[in-house]
Amino acid sequence: MIPYDKRSGKIWYNGDLVDWSDVKLHVLSHGLHYASCVFEGERVYDGSIFKLEEHTSRLFYSAKRMGFEIPYTEAEINSASKKIIATQKVENGYVRPVAWRGSEMMAISAQQTKIHVAIATWEWGSYFDPKLKVEGIKLNVSKWRRPAPDTIPWDTKASGLYMICTLSKHEAEKQGYTDSLMLDYEGNVAEATGANIFFKDKNGELHTPIPDSFLDGITRRTVIEIAISKNIKVHERKINPNELSNFVGCFLTGTAAEVTPVSCIAQNQYKVCDMIINLNESYQNLVKKKKAA
Ligand SMILES: Cc1ncc(COP(=O)(O)O)c(C=O)c1O
Repeated sequence: MIPYDKRSGKIWYNGDLVDWSDVKLHVLSHGLHYASCVFEGERVYDGSIFKLEEHTSRLFYSAKRMGFEIPYTEAEINSASKKIIATQKVENGYVRPVAWRGSEMMAISAQQTKIHVAIATWEWGSYFDPKLKVEGIKLNVSKWRRPAPDTIPWDTKASGLYMICTLSKHEAEKQGYTDSLMLDYEGNVAEATGANIFFKDKNGELHTPIPDSFLDGITRRTVIEIAISKNIKVHERKINPNELSNFVGCFLTGTAAEVTPVSCIAQNQYKVCDMIINLNESYQNLVKKKKAA
């Protein structure tokens, strides 16, 4: 696999299309040392970015919550995103906008730093092994919890939030799992390391945690709308880990994960049932703008 800094083409960087290998930030960048950095993850389907405007708005919201202002308008970032996928000829792939504090100050205080913005895109397929997307992935339960909402700007895609996600995912992979279920600061079920989680009960109803200390994913909201349109009841509520053995189905949602079935969480087994397969198909039809299943 070609490392991400060795690929070819252009990256949109502070307003210009720059050669991929020339897009560099200095080692003394505030964003690198102090995590003053926010980003987005978007998918391109058949040449267009799904829910681009919502992702861009969330990028601006994340930056605002981190105390900095992106020096472009949302409309400019939207058109830059479209321009870079056209330049790179990405038909089905991923888009990564990122904004960070520069090098003018190198200490906790960073009021005078320049805000840099880059948008990169590449062809990309499934986040998880395509075989596992059919069979279901296996989750362990992380020893790391989502932080309490008064400890960090929890409702953003700020890079600092991902430190414990990488630790959790690495631990899961070492134990032979694909990903990790993280609990919240009170010990309730929260989400996976980069995706939200849903459960199906014995009556065919869905349950998903209230996103009050973690990201309310754009995919999560989309899948809730799809489920409601199919007359599936969706309960947004606190879910205790003791309940994991009562559910019969489980899946993750996220821009990267899309709708990914889960076959087990630790010792709890789940079925990849017709409802989950159908929700996944409807999501795929929606993002690819096909007629609803
Ligand atoms: C920690 C975390 N939770 C949830 C999600 C799902 O969010 P979305 O559906 O907006 O991609 C993501 C992915 O961006 C994520 O990184």
